[in-house]
Amino acid sequence: MSKQTDAGLAIDTGRVFDLHCPPLTMGVGARRQLPEILRDFGERVFIVADPGITKQPIFQETHQQLLDSGFQTQIFSKLTPDPPIEDVLACAEVARAFEPAVFLGVGGGSTLDITKVAAILVGDSPAVEEMFGINLIPHPGIPTVLVPTTAGTGSEVTPIAVLSDETNQLKKGLVSPYLLANRALVDPEFCLTLPAAPTAYTGMDTLTHAIEAYTNRFAVPLIDALAIEAVRLVATFLEPAVHDGNDLNARYAMSRASVLGGLCLGPVNTAAVHALAYPLGGRFHVPHGVANSLLMPHVLRFNYPAVEERFQALAVAVETNDLVTFVETLSAKVGTDRSLREFKVQASDLPSMARDAMQVTRLLKNNPRTFSEEDALAIYEAAF
Ligand SMILES: [Fe+2]
Repeated sequence: MSKQTDAGLAIDTGRVFDLHCPPLTMGVGARRQLPEILRDFGERVFIVADPGITKQPIFQETHQQLLDSGFQTQIFSKLTPDPPIEDVLACAEVARAFEPAVFLGVGGGSTLDITKVAAILVGDSPAVEEMFGINLIPHPGIPTVLVPTTAGTGSEVTPIAVLSDETNQLKKGLVSPYLLANRALVDPEFCLTLPAAPTAYTGMDTLTHAIEAYTNRFAVPLIDALAIEAVRLVATFLEPAVHDGNDLNARYAMSRASVLGGLCLGPVNTAAVHALAYPLGGRFHVPHGVANSLLMPHVLRFNYPAVEERFQALAVAVETNDLVTFVETLSAKVGTDRSLREFKVQASDLPSMARDAMQVTRLLKNNPRTFSEEDALAIYEAAF
């Protein structure tokens, strides 16, 4: 049972999907509701936080508010960028000794992902390596409350966590309803101190989520509505947020885009851009949003013939004639128009990267145009 939608992509109208979203508290100053939210879970709060955010007054004031409200806390912030599995194991071990009632994650996407997985590992669970993949987590962990400080991966509303497997030099995903936060709290004021570069690349990640969901083989109309609004918000507000970090209006708009983009990931998810970005993160530590950004125009060009009318619908939403040019121009304006060679990738690395990317079948299956290893190599060569 399928039909052509007004945007042109054949959609299986019989497809049943699940959209899970944690209860979400959102708005400027929303952080003041944290004590009330945490009280539902207990007094002992294990906080996993970006090392950068722990130095910021906004974090310190929020933490003090918890102490003043009678909570007992422990902060874990020994986290490296692109955190390896060892960071999650260390986090879980420290947490186990603290015996938390609840985990509070405060940070960017990696920190929130670590919080989710550590909250599972702190109990009696299989090894992380055995839970990579879809629905391989056997039971829920300790409750989690997630507070993003970027906009963003949208991790605070997704049932997904991505970790770096250093042994195989690959980023790997875990997908499970048990990775969904018990509560999400989005206060755009946490993003005000985020420097321009991570503002740019996390914003481009949001854009990639929305575009890959909208042009996805498994697109569904309800999620289309979220995706197209996320694309529109990024088109309007990413540049202002990058150029003036204190622009609260732009920050709030980007936080909305990030949540909307995150909501696309559970029911629909991303596709080839994210699959090809995995080896860049795992082996060369290219920030996730930059990896997406530098690959996206090439993948979109490849996908264009398969979903031309969908691309046109997105182009109309952002008031341009050509979506690929729009993405390239935005990327150049915010400084994420990089090349692979800038990250010390050698031409001789490209074939093995293409081989690794083809392993990410859980995302490649979503791509609107079937992807071969030769196609992956051609994309890497174009981005080189
Ligand atoms: Fe992403």
